[in-house]
Amino acid sequence: MSETAAGILAKELNGNPSAVFALPTGSTPVGTYQVLAKLNREGQVDFSHGNFFNVDEYVGLSRESKQGYYHFLYENLYQHVNVDLTKTHAPDGMASNPELAAIQYEEMIDGLGGLDIAFLGIGRNGHIGFNEPASSLHYSTYCVMLTESTIEANSRFFKSVEEVPKQALTIGMGTIMRAKKIVMVANGEDKAAAIKRLREDTSLDTEFPSSLLRLHPDVTVVTTIK
Ligand code: GLP
Repeated sequence: MSETAAGILAKELNGNPSAVFALPTGSTPVGTYQVLAKLNREGQVDFSHGNFFNVDEYVGLSRESKQGYYHFLYENLYQHVNVDLTKTHAPDGMASNPELAAIQYEEMIDGLGGLDIAFLGIGRNGHIGFNEPASSLHYSTYCVMLTESTIEANSRFFKSVEEVPKQALTIGMGTIMRAKKIVMVANGEDKAAAIKRLREDTSLDTEFPSSLLRLHPDVTVVTTIK
């Protein structure tokens, strides 16, 4: 899965060295980032002109915070590749006005012409980024209240479930759907139901946000799930 996903992403970056990427956190993409770092070391892909945007960030965590998502991408990818750190971005989790930070983040992505590639994981509940199941979804980057199921799933990265932030900033469904290309990775038993639903259920359901990917003309799901 990681080799395949990294191959697709590297090919895109080689084809367009200043491409605009959204990058996810989580356990699933870690291997992809390791393969990308290896390809970079071997001179097979150059990160120095690319623009990289975190898909999401917790509200209340800084860029330096160990559990923060910018820090995650720094640890798992940026410090291992020849990226220009001034071209790496995450929503400002420490902003006194998260709603304004969300608007500014969207403007930054728009200013570069929108996303070329949205690289995504998937939550057990079908969320993408932190676009959680809800009766309506958001078009642009916004500040979201996390669901109990996501807080529970992500508590493994914190000392206790109480420490998991209750809010996050995430790129919106429109930010994702306007990307020229979408690449998703998924593995593990806990994602099997979500991937099965994504494959088999043709309904568009805001309570299962990844179902909206069916509307996009260029989506690749790289998965080990049969
Ligand atoms: C978090 C992130 C998502 C990610 C998901 C899956 O909730 N906000 O962007 O896709 O986790 O993570 P994992 O790969 O660890 O299952």
